[in-house]
Amino acid sequence: MKPLIIANWKMNPTSLAEAKKMIVKGAVICPPFVYLGLLRGELGAQNCSSEEKGAFTGEISPLTLKDLKVKYVILGHSERRKLFSETDEMINKKVRRALASGLKVVLCVGEIDKKEVLKIQLEKGLEGVSRDEMSKVIIAYEPVWAIGTGKNCSVDETMSSIILIRQILSNLFSRAIADKIPILYGGSVNSSNSGAYIKEAGANGLLVGGASLKPDELSKIIKSSY
Ligand code: PGA
Repeated sequence: MKPLIIANWKMNPTSLAEAKKMIVKGAVICPPFVYLGLLRGELGAQNCSSEEKGAFTGEISPLTLKDLKVKYVILGHSERRKLFSETDEMINKKVRRALASGLKVVLCVGEIDKKEVLKIQLEKGLEGVSRDEMSKVIIAYEPVWAIGTGKNCSVDETMSSIILIRQILSNLFSRAIADKIPILYGGSVNSSNSGAYIKEAGANGLLVGGASLKPDELSKIIKSSY
């Protein structure tokens, strides 16, 4: 499996000129929505609506993303869960709508403290998703305490969480499906710690926030994953 490096720019930068300079080849770039039609390369969105179209002021349809050649959508990010009160039920509706619209879904899961939360987030987030559709799902393991804090998760703990996630997916779908789903690590990834997640912890890629805003750093992270 080729490592999948996803750059989550969050609400950065604040100008198109800057955004154009920040593109790095070899990563899926997830910029703010408004830049999606204006940037080149492999692109992902940071969120989408659970609805197809209609009277939903301020929302963005997954069909609109698809039309702009966007390939991926990040759903269930801990900032969406915490700051925008997204529940597992809301995230599940988005997951299903995004898959039905032909997007690949990066479903974020991660504990605040207790690991049981991973089972609930996976069970509820993927409810009603078919075995076929699972080939378009990527899981990002992001312990909440590691996001944007500089406190990245240890290699050992990441490895055990990835194994746990595969077990849960195997119970929900099948062993064969669980083995094929890419599982990424995210949370204070930088070029000094990135390689170990892929080479030692068994992650199939990385979801990079803060460090993805610096093109040189993101390039180093990509190189470290091979
Ligand atoms: P971080 O963010 O790399 O800045 O910790 C990761 C994320 O939010 O996906």
